[in-house]
Amino acid sequence: MDGYSLGYANIALVKYWGKKSKDPVLPYNPNISLRLDNLLSKTKIEKSLSNEDEFYINDEKQGPEEVNKMIKFISKFTPVAREKICIKSYNTVPTAAGLSSSSSGTMALVLACNEYFKLNKSTQEMVEIAKEGSGSSCRSFYKLAAWLEDGSVEELSCKLDFGMMVLVVNEDRKKISSRVAMEQCVQTSTTFASWVEKAKKDFVLMKEALKEADFEKIGEITESNALAMHETTTTSSPSFTFLTEESHRAMDIVKQLRSQGYKCYFTMDAGPNVKVLYLKEDQEKLHEEISKLWNKKIILCME
Ligand code: DP6
Repeated sequence: MDGYSLGYANIALVKYWGKKSKDPVLPYNPNISLRLDNLLSKTKIEKSLSNEDEFYINDEKQGPEEVNKMIKFISKFTPVAREKICIKSYNTVPTAAGLSSSSSGTMALVLACNEYFKLNKSTQEMVEIAKEGSGSSCRSFYKLAAWLEDGSVEELSCKLDFGMMVLVVNEDRKKISSRVAMEQCVQTSTTFASWVEKAKKDFVLMKEALKEADFEKIGEITESNALAMHETTTTSSPSFTFLTEESHRAMDIVKQLRSQGYKCYFTMDAGPNVKVLYLKEDQEKLHEEISKLWNKKIILCME
């Protein structure tokens, strides 16, 4: 696909779940993610052939609400007087299903704007811009990234070669967006304060574990952090959950395989799908075992 800019999805090992400030966007707790190189969005901007701004996802024309959302975001950093544009985006990630399509989509859009409007922004400047579109997208610019409480984004490194697969429960658009859901949790969850406290500790422990290349520790923190984040949804008012019975079945499969000696851990985001973290060297064997227990779709994310 010629002339398309590529944006990657990322999955948090320590989650961002709550904005301490909305302008500029600052997270309540520092968070860490892993980029998934084959869950991506491809975006291109062209001159619109009609006299209105247009936006297509996977060749499907988006309605005025979606177009306005995009234009409002890009107007923050593109020329005020500009001709009408057509944004064409393709997701290999199911859109808005808690598979981080907003992070890959936002990264691709920022890169495409940089290209089309010849903005000449540095990576650091684009990281700053992306964050205003979707907080978690600022981490997609690096393979392993930390987004800190002061808003800065750091590249981390780890000797381990990770793999991630998604046990797909449901690819439909989620009913409640992560933005709305996290705001409700900030405002009403009785465990929000303890979540932030735990996430801050998890961040420090995760950085240590990554440095020591201690996969067991990395996996344990990843799981317990995800569970604490999801707890804030059930303790919010009104109470809700992104997880279904099938998500719990997928989590049980991961635990069962672990008890059999497989090194694998789960995490979930604002949707029912379960992501499994493992070491790349174990991918083939683990995929074979999981496929025997999970008869639905499995996406390998880091081939
Ligand atoms: C559960 O980045 O989608 O995936 O900043 O409001 O656009 P906005 O939220 P978004 O939230 C991501 C939440 C999460 C956890 C994570 O990726 O850290």
